[in-house]
Amino acid sequence: MEAEFEARIARGDTIEPKDWMPERYRKQLIRMMSQHAHSEVVGMLPEGNWITRAPSLRRKLSLLAKVQDEAGHGLYIYCGTETLGTSREELIDQLLAGTAKYSSIFNYPTLTWADMGAIGWLVDGAAIVNQTMLAKASYGPYARAMIRICKEENFHKRQGYEIMATLSAGTPAQQEMAQDALNRWWWPSLMMFGPSDKDSPNSAELLRWKVKQKGNDELRQRFINLTVPQASAIGLTIPDPVMKQDEKTGDWIPGPIDWDEFHQVITGNGPCNKERLAARNQAHAEGAWVREAAAAYAAKHHQRTAA
Ligand code: ACO
Repeated sequence: MEAEFEARIARGDTIEPKDWMPERYRKQLIRMMSQHAHSEVVGMLPEGNWITRAPSLRRKLSLLAKVQDEAGHGLYIYCGTETLGTSREELIDQLLAGTAKYSSIFNYPTLTWADMGAIGWLVDGAAIVNQTMLAKASYGPYARAMIRICKEENFHKRQGYEIMATLSAGTPAQQEMAQDALNRWWWPSLMMFGPSDKDSPNSAELLRWKVKQKGNDELRQRFINLTVPQASAIGLTIPDPVMKQDEKTGDWIPGPIDWDEFHQVITGNGPCNKERLAARNQAHAEGAWVREAAAAYAAKHHQRTAA
């Protein structure tokens, strides 16, 4: 069975929920998809914080729509994870208890309106680079969820870049605000791609099973190469004084990433980890009546159909 599974992966077949799969493949997908789903949901918090302070109705509408989209992304991925035999409740309990991971990026504070621009441009931009590849992942429900998610992420990236472009073309104070946001979000955005391949315990297996199509470093490099010209097009400076372009490959080679900071953040000691978990726990408790009402309605509906 294992050999047939490996042969299917090698042929580029898509694995579906009822197909046989090694327990390790299932576990790896649950780990990665749960981390991803939680990231979408926790990712609503830093931007949700600015909905009431958006500078115009147009900005408010698009930010509201974007934050709502992230909830939808979380939902698709939780549903995808359920096809592997793990319930959404179980995953959410792990998130609320602080035992599950979610993306490091969402543990940084959003201090100014320009952060809404930087998040859309950089964070959603990084997510697109990573998730366009995952849309070809070997597990069908995950890959299919990524197709829709990437389409929406494109809109998110554009609204973020437009905010940055507008601020950069504005008053000196607005330009400074945009540059400050880039300065604070640049390095955490590079960390989103995960540790360097040589320090990534899961990459080799995920690449072999074609869940990942590319390693963390290659995707990070792709993101940097795309983003550097976008920054200069709107007059912003990447906050990396030693970054250089490789003449042969054209790659923009960044200075060293502070992996100590990354490890602090993913082990719960980032600037906002405690605040994010407290906010999720509060929202979950306050939403109890909605879950109860939905369950009562479903039971009534079920009873009626059965009768
Ligand atoms: N934030 C938090 N944890 C991270 C991050 C990060 N940026 N990068 C790596 N990690 C964790 C991994 O989850 C893993 O821990 P675990 O074994 O306890 O789960 C550990 O660090 C080692 O990393 P890797 O071996 O490289 O892990 P993996 O092969 O899963 O690669 C990656 C990490 C690239 C993030 C991968 O899981 C992935 O592509 N996930 C799907 C995309 C995703 O999660 N996106 C969230 C971004 S935000 C958004 O979508 C809105």
